[in-house]
Amino acid sequence: MTAPETWELRSARYLAREAQEKVIRPGDTVVDATMGNGYDTVRLAELVGSEGHVFAFDVQPLAVMHTMQRLEDAGVKERCSLLCCSHAEMARYVPGPVRCVVFNLGWLPGGDKRITTRWPSTWTAVRAALRLLQPMGVCTICAYPGHAAGDEERRSLVTVLSGLRPQDYNVLHQRFLNAGEDAPECFIIQRQNRKTDRSPGIMR
Ligand SMILES: C[S@@+](CC[C@H](N)C(=O)[O-])C[C@H]1O[C@@H](n2cnc3c(N)ncnc32)[C@H](O)[C@@H]1O
Repeated sequence: MTAPETWELRSARYLAREAQEKVIRPGDTVVDATMGNGYDTVRLAELVGSEGHVFAFDVQPLAVMHTMQRLEDAGVKERCSLLCCSHAEMARYVPGPVRCVVFNLGWLPGGDKRITTRWPSTWTAVRAALRLLQPMGVCTICAYPGHAAGDEERRSLVTVLSGLRPQDYNVLHQRFLNAGEDAPECFIIQRQNRKTDRSPGIMR
């Protein structure tokens, strides 16, 4: 008999990945709202399989180039649409419904730290994502409050997500209480299955 795996509390990104892996099925349509160097895009493309599709966004051509190369190397390029524009445009480019939308906020690792996600466009994109989700679909958001723009995103997310109607969405907020104010945090929002006579309420 093999020894049981040790269960360990892990980082915000790890929890987000776990939720994505639990919910995404072959053939799904999903969104990577912040493609960066393409690690998440490749993983999502592998999860949706050859019949699925990934829409990925980034404002930086460099990020799109890195991601394209990574997708080519992994042999999964054909199942992805890479969009070099703000995720605030998501509603225009992505036909819903989608199973999962992934945000990994902040700047391109190894890139220009001034080009970072910012709350006004992040909120436009999160709102679009919540509307695109199919019932039981999830949106994961990793936020990095260790810099001013990231701290504003984290605080604003807590405020607006707390106002979602529980009959429309369940919202989880994970935070390590003893890791300091700068530690990454994870938000997971799941659209509920209930039939409603109106579109899901974004604000209470
Ligand atoms: C932390 S990185 C993402 C890392 C990525 N998920 C990966 O696996 O490598 C955040 C990315 O968001 C991008 N970004 C900043 N503002 C954006 C916006 N308005 N729309 C889409 N992407 C944006 C940055 O250019 C950066 O590449």
